Amino acid sequence: MALNDVLTKKQAQAFKSYLTDDWRTLILSGAVRAGKTYIDNLIFTDELRRVRNLARKKGDNHPQYILAGYSSNTIYDNVIASLERQLGIELKPDRHGHYHLFGVDIVPAYTGTARGMNAIRGMTSYGAYVNEASLAANDAFKEIVNRCSEEGSRIIADTNPDIPTHWLKKDYIDNKDPKAKIKAFNFTIDDNTFLDPAYVEALKASTPKGMFYDRAIKGLWVTGEGVVYKDFDKDRMTISPSQIPAGLRYYAGVDWGFEHLNSIGVFGEDDQGNIFLLEEHTGKGKFISHWVDVAKDIQHRYGQSIVFACDSARPDNSNEFLAAGINAVNANKAILPGVECVSKFMANGKFFVNREGVQEFFNEIYQYIWDEKTGLPVKEHDDVMDMMRYAIYTQHAGGGYVPWK
Ligand SMILES: Nc1ncnc2c1ncn2[C@@H]1O[C@H](COP(=O)(O)OP(=O)(O)O)[C@@H](O)[C@H]1O
Ligand SMILES: [Mg+2]
Repeated sequence: MALNDVLTKKQAQAFKSYLTDDWRTLILSGAVRAGKTYIDNLIFTDELRRVRNLARKKGDNHPQYILAGYSSNTIYDNVIASLERQLGIELKPDRHGHYHLFGVDIVPAYTGTARGMNAIRGMTSYGAYVNEASLAANDAFKEIVNRCSEEGSRIIADTNPDIPTHWLKKDYIDNKDPKAKIKAFNFTIDDNTFLDPAYVEALKASTPKGMFYDRAIKGLWVTGEGVVYKDFDKDRMTISPSQIPAGLRYYAGVDWGFEHLNSIGVFGEDDQGNIFLLEEHTGKGKFISHWVDVAKDIQHRYGQSIVFACDSARPDNSNEFLAAGINAVNANKAILPGVECVSKFMANGKFFVNREGVQEFFNEIYQYIWDEKTGLPVKEHDDVMDMMRYAIYTQHAGGGYVPWK
């Protein structure tokens, strides 16, 4: 059986490099669902066999190897579960949480927290497999590299792209110094010829244009530029009150402000997942009693139990809401996932604005732009935008509301 029958071209290229090139760090980066983890899993099992043989020659019968990922859940989902599927085996952790395969003790490390890295402090490893490497702090990655101090140890990593100035891109992927012995391969979604073309087409159509598309589909290390909500189409997405369906599920968002704008918005959603921005109340220099009145009026019209996803930066204001019997919860404020979530509704043509219900929305939607340095939105013209993100993302992030304490 030829390699190209079981691997994509890009995977075969990476695997050949793995087998024949002189490298110490092998990094696979790029699009989602591109086949990075699949080939890294195969390389990982080959590395384990190599490590076992290396250790045997040294008379070391307890070789250790690091398996790093953002959290215990992501290591399980991305590596362990897919490895089990790929190899048709079952991997059970021992009482220390370590895995054992081909005579190697595999020690998990979680790069997302300092505590998650404790397991490998002081350890001497024959190598490491780092999943979602760009999510690790630079120090955590360096610590992993430092632990790989056995002679002949090597590091394999896979990652989705981030901003072009990310340490993983600058210091490793772009490091062409032969002495650094780094090999890097970049994947696009079209490299994965095992995916159903209809699935790929649907994924492309539903991925927001701009940075999200360039990273997730094309696999590019790019930052955002221009307006954040590129898929917002005023002609298609602005509607009049008569076009708003009745009987929606209603929820609200709040971005607190006094010197900046304070914004409260009400959204309605139908069973097809269409979101309607029904009304928006935005103003400057007004005290909390005013906003309590606005929220009470909203409750009166949309239902007593309507949830207000609030900016957590002003607990005093949120407490005033609670004291007035308004259902205030802490918004999920994760910026990029939140922007991506809102963008997806727009990309899918499932976002609508009541032209007669909004005040500042149209002022902000075209002025809300990316900061090319950080890859995050610029913190200007963002009050209605934040309110909208809090409302929609808190509703759709999963895991339920964070109760206000
Ligand atoms: N060579 C292959 N043969 C069969 N299926 C593959 C192959 N490469 C990838 N896949 C499948 O394609 C999907 C995405 O691959 P994955 O490696 O998880 O992508 P990535 O890590 O780039 O997000 C998975 O379901 C995986 O099993
Ligand atoms: Mg992956």
